[in-house]
Amino acid sequence: MCGIVGYTGKGEALPVLLGALERLEYRGYDSAGVCVIENKKLFLEKKKGKIRELVRSLLGKKILGKTGIGHTRWATHGEPSERNAHPHTDEREEFAVVHNGIVENFLQLREELQKEGVKFKSDTDTEVIAHLIAKNYEGDLLEAVLKTVKRLRGAFAFAVVTSKEPGRVVGVKEGSPLIVGLGEGENFLASDIPAILPYTKKVVPLNDGEVADLTPEGVSFYDFEGNPTKKEVMLVSWDVVSAQKGGFKHFMLKEIYEQPKVIGDSIRGFLSKETEVDLRNYRRILIIACGTSYHAGLVGKYWIERFVRVPVEVIYASEFRYGDYPVGEGDLVIAISQSGETADTKFSSSMAKERGAKVLALVNVVGSSLDRESDFTLYTHAGPEVGVAATKTFTTQLTVLYLLAISHLKDYEELLKGILEVPRLVEKILNNGEKIKEVAQKYQKFKNFLYLGRYLNYPIALEGALKLKEISYIHAEGYPAGEMKHGPIALIDDKMPVVSIAVKDRVYEKMLSNIEEVLSRKGIVIGVGNEDDEVLKKKSKDFIGVPRAREELYPILTVVPLQLLAYEIANLLGLDVDQPRNLAKTVTVE
Ligand code: G6P
Repeated sequence: MCGIVGYTGKGEALPVLLGALERLEYRGYDSAGVCVIENKKLFLEKKKGKIRELVRSLLGKKILGKTGIGHTRWATHGEPSERNAHPHTDEREEFAVVHNGIVENFLQLREELQKEGVKFKSDTDTEVIAHLIAKNYEGDLLEAVLKTVKRLRGAFAFAVVTSKEPGRVVGVKEGSPLIVGLGEGENFLASDIPAILPYTKKVVPLNDGEVADLTPEGVSFYDFEGNPTKKEVMLVSWDVVSAQKGGFKHFMLKEIYEQPKVIGDSIRGFLSKETEVDLRNYRRILIIACGTSYHAGLVGKYWIERFVRVPVEVIYASEFRYGDYPVGEGDLVIAISQSGETADTKFSSSMAKERGAKVLALVNVVGSSLDRESDFTLYTHAGPEVGVAATKTFTTQLTVLYLLAISHLKDYEELLKGILEVPRLVEKILNNGEKIKEVAQKYQKFKNFLYLGRYLNYPIALEGALKLKEISYIHAEGYPAGEMKHGPIALIDDKMPVVSIAVKDRVYEKMLSNIEEVLSRKGIVIGVGNEDDEVLKKKSKDFIGVPRAREELYPILTVVPLQLLAYEIANLLGLDVDQPRNLAKTVTVE
């Protein structure tokens, strides 16, 4: 994963790099580092830990230089430490590299270089890139980079600078994301758009197999053979404000509260364009995704099977890629990914495409790899999501999946009316935030949680449990309530809170029976149901209400209190809600 950034221009590089790294910190925060070219020499500073550690160590140091690169790391090769922090350099410290992704053949390259007498300073795969570029350099950085990439295998993006050519930054993309930002007398490289938003809205996403050569005056693009490539400039519509906290304590909380707006935006976005994809034209649909996006896919399956009557399989991208799923012509693969850059999802969908399936990407980031590489794209209009735990991108994914599922039905207009109500209903749930805080207070010290749901709310049980695990580090399991009797019921005792989603849908009565099973084993029921449901209220130790809605729309509502519950518990425990340990927002490694 990791975040990389590069700058060359009229301004001082260091503040630009540090600001950009802060906005990329969601990609990893094990260590951070910068390299600025100062008087034809490389100045390097690296620190273990978050960007603020790096900023602290730079305080009082006067580092002037108008070109530089920076990195925030999520460790893959080599433990998180200063030694393994980027940028990495060649032996003479004339070339510095920041890198995101994995060089799969690095061991072989490392041995080869070691035989030639090269001494390595870190355990990383990245360091081989710096040594190779130094070895291949004959007076032109671009040439040296082009020679080097031919030796690398894997999925990566990197940026390089050299003291021999101050003012030049070269960036390479092969599998991991990289964009160029075009400014006035200054140009930028970054793993993601928010990094450079304060400076420019003119963005050029690189394709795999492309190199960008930046100077303050302009940027040239090439393929790996050195042939110039033609690029289009994309104008980003997000503003800087929407990528900031806006008065909320955490990004996650802000993003939870943005949901009524962004669900509305996503409905408008969907309706503003004729849908190219008619699901009825496919013999089978495969949904491929990871994490929270996978849970959105599970809900999507119920909707598509219910409304379109085409069989749907939902598969973790990491499982699809190395499995033997028969996929080919006549199949539609829906690849769901907030970032559009998750390595497993990306590689799985290109594999499916190669085998003849059509790929529809559902992404939040316009211009992301999945957006560009798929046959069709649908967008969630959630705006930038910074909190590592996905919230608003989940409910907007659900919104778009629902619209897609109903878009060719006879009673489309009628079904549409239902979803148009959702922003208002979500708003109503959010107004009940204080109640959820109270519940969080009571249960923050519990060590295990069970989340139960059935039918459309089974994936929401999974998502509720995932949210709690991710940010509060409390063990939580989501389960289909009807399946509980085949195992998890053994876990229930008077120390087990069981979050039970039981809204008035086709499985309501069944859920009530499952809740009885919990109660008779002294489990503590936290009921999530309709606000007017007196029966459920009586059975619940604590109760969180959601408004009445059409049965099929409940998942977009019931997940909201579960997001808030996880948030409030993590906040009460004093944890780093936006950047939970060991996680990263965009996972560009397999
Ligand atoms: C990471 C994030 C999750 C996210 C998953 C899939 O694990 O921490 O929040 O759901 O990646 O990401 P994507 O961008 O493909 O939706």
